[in-house]
Amino acid sequence: MNDSLDARIESLATLAEEARKEFATATHEEQLNQLKARYLGKSGSLKTIMESLKELSPDQRPILGKTVNQTKQEVLQALEDRRVQIREEKRRQELAHRWIDLSLPGRQRDQGAIHPLRSVTRELFSIFRSLGYDVAEGPCVEDDFHNFSALNFPPDHPARDMQDTLLLKNGALLRTHTSPVQIRTMQANRPPIRIIAPGMVYRCDADVSHSPMFSQIEGLWVDEKVSLADLKGTLTTFARRYYGPDVPIRLRPSFFPFTEPSCEVDVGCVFCPRGGSCSVCHDTGWIEILGAGMVDPNVFEAVGYDPEKVQGFAFGLGIERVAMLKYGINDIRLLFENDVRFLRQFAK
Ligand code: DAH
Repeated sequence: MNDSLDARIESLATLAEEARKEFATATHEEQLNQLKARYLGKSGSLKTIMESLKELSPDQRPILGKTVNQTKQEVLQALEDRRVQIREEKRRQELAHRWIDLSLPGRQRDQGAIHPLRSVTRELFSIFRSLGYDVAEGPCVEDDFHNFSALNFPPDHPARDMQDTLLLKNGALLRTHTSPVQIRTMQANRPPIRIIAPGMVYRCDADVSHSPMFSQIEGLWVDEKVSLADLKGTLTTFARRYYGPDVPIRLRPSFFPFTEPSCEVDVGCVFCPRGGSCSVCHDTGWIEILGAGMVDPNVFEAVGYDPEKVQGFAFGLGIERVAMLKYGINDIRLLFENDVRFLRQFAK
């Protein structure tokens, strides 16, 4: 009887040893799974020895039972160890094929930036909003009335030649300035009115400082008592906030059909050290930034206001020009070409 217990214990040891050897020869996990079934499965070797338990005497059974359990644990452990080795080996082989060069430079992701025209517009908005202006808008396709007649351009007045108008087939036109928004806003509202109107405008014109499409901001303040002093105060405040507290401004007499008197406004050149040679202001020390004036009584009449009862001022500035001066850009086309090498410079 003892013989048979010893023999069984012996065969368990042999089994564990064989299992270990066979596991070592397995190179794939599927092989391991088959071996697991062979040794530990329902009809596996270990089970067969376990089933022979009943052939032993009652005092021998626990001894064999314990040994079977130990063997089972050992075999399982050996199997799992081999499984880990196989996985590691597989991973090593994969990495040998797909290696990573850690010395390669990383891929840079381009960061988006606000377009210079947009950021100038936002800055102008915030300055004029703080002065109590609302934002108004109007259409790009306009009619003769809003773009010219109501703004006091008589039908055959040479002033219409100041702007090379792009006409559409149906008699409409592309607005040549944002001033028609003045007319639309006054037609739709009663004073007091205080608005700025940003938008694209169109002229048959193209060179380094002119584009057939560009953007303006129009300003309009209409109330019972608005004077040229208010206009000057407003524009001085704007210029100081935008270009710096010490910038001087000057108003030069000029002509626009829709304002009387009219002026052009210059700011002290922000580029030149005084006295030096400056290509931006051509050594005059001044740069023109906008046109302005007191709203002409004829304009009030065209929108049904009584010129005896209301007064107002208006101004119009070119956003590209302001942006070019702010950033030292010497060709207006750069602002429309969307060349990332140019735009990248504005990413903060
Ligand atoms: N509309 C003018 C232009 O495009 C600019 C302008 C001048 C607007 C004087 C105004 C103004 O409102 O008062 O050349």
